[in-house]
Amino acid sequence: MTPISVDDYRSLAKRRLPKMVFDYLDGGAESERGLHRNLGAFAAIKLAPRRLVDVSQRSSSVSLFGRSLPTPFVVAPTGLNGALWPDGDVALARAARSAGIPFVLSTASNATIEDVAERAGGDLWFQLYVVQRDLAQQLVRRAKDAGYHVLVLTVDVAVNGKRERDLRNGFAIPFRQTPRSVLDAVTHPGWALRQIRHGLPQLANFASPEATDVNAQAALMRRQMDASFSWQDLQALRDAWPSTLIVKGIMTPADASRCRELGVDAVVLSNHGGRQIEDVQAPIDLLAQMSDQTAMPLLVDGGIRRGADAVKALALGAKAVLLGRAILYGLAAAGEEGARHVLEILTAELDTTLALIGCPEAARLDSQFIQL
Ligand SMILES: Cc1cc2nc3c(=O)[nH]c(=O)nc-3n(C[C@H](O)[C@H](O)[C@H](O)COP(=O)(O)O)c2cc1C
Repeated sequence: MTPISVDDYRSLAKRRLPKMVFDYLDGGAESERGLHRNLGAFAAIKLAPRRLVDVSQRSSSVSLFGRSLPTPFVVAPTGLNGALWPDGDVALARAARSAGIPFVLSTASNATIEDVAERAGGDLWFQLYVVQRDLAQQLVRRAKDAGYHVLVLTVDVAVNGKRERDLRNGFAIPFRQTPRSVLDAVTHPGWALRQIRHGLPQLANFASPEATDVNAQAALMRRQMDASFSWQDLQALRDAWPSTLIVKGIMTPADASRCRELGVDAVVLSNHGGRQIEDVQAPIDLLAQMSDQTAMPLLVDGGIRRGADAVKALALGAKAVLLGRAILYGLAAAGEEGARHVLEILTAELDTTLALIGCPEAARLDSQFIQL
């Protein structure tokens, strides 16, 4: 069966990945209420279609930081993409480049900053986790030298969220060999063979031919960040990074305003896809309350599984949306081709939705297309 939706790709990914890897990709924090709230929030927003509008010519393009993007999608930073598909970071970056959209490389990537720039290229952004301050400075310098033009600082991982599926499964890098995990792997031979052929993924930015920083890798794997990082440090980062700076993980209007005062260029309203704390608002609901009051560009993520979800986010004031799990399901099921296909599916759904609500241009979406 050819997958025709993100949900189809989720089912395929579930079949093809070992349970512990699928759970890492799919799961959320604690009882997963946050994850479900993110999805439910989109379902609760209804569109208000306008009729008798000429929609024979349509455009999905939007403008972001003075550049034109063919669609409002950005590939979100996600760690351990290599556990889903060998060379997963490069595969995602190439899929993004084919679609003409930005790719955000995670600090916790399995390919290095430089490798992705060389082998994939395209519109590259770098996401920073501050594990140790001196390492963070090095990463930022490397990203700048390799041509990444947007820095995304993630601020919602002071410590790791309680991901109960991962705890139950004993999910860790390097993979722990227990009878259960070995059985999980051998019953998914396609995945296992690909992993064996390619070599198990490392947190590549902390491993070099000369030295592997095992402590930094272990800390990142436990998402053990420098939890003292605060507003003064953001100011210093702003001073050190000359081009576009985005803060990801903002969940209150007050924090968004403070970012703006410090000269941050945009924020991503995000609860990390419900993977950190569960009882917070869905970012799309926060967007609906904030976009009128905030003068800075707002991006949003969490729960986007349909082109219509992106339409809703733009209509509520987002400049662009980040795709986390949606594109990862494609990657996990069929590598670069699957990731590309997910982007095609979402782009086609977006276009159909624009036609059906009577809005020929994504850039002209506003709250009149939302049923209040
Ligand atoms: C498997 C996985 C790994 C992630 N790793 C990171 C990461 O390394 N850095 C980061 O800023 N966010 C990370 N995130 C959060 C995403 O960037 C994004 O905020 C979230 O996935 C959006 O929700 P969605 O998956 O419902 O689209 C990760 C999310 C997933 C699903």
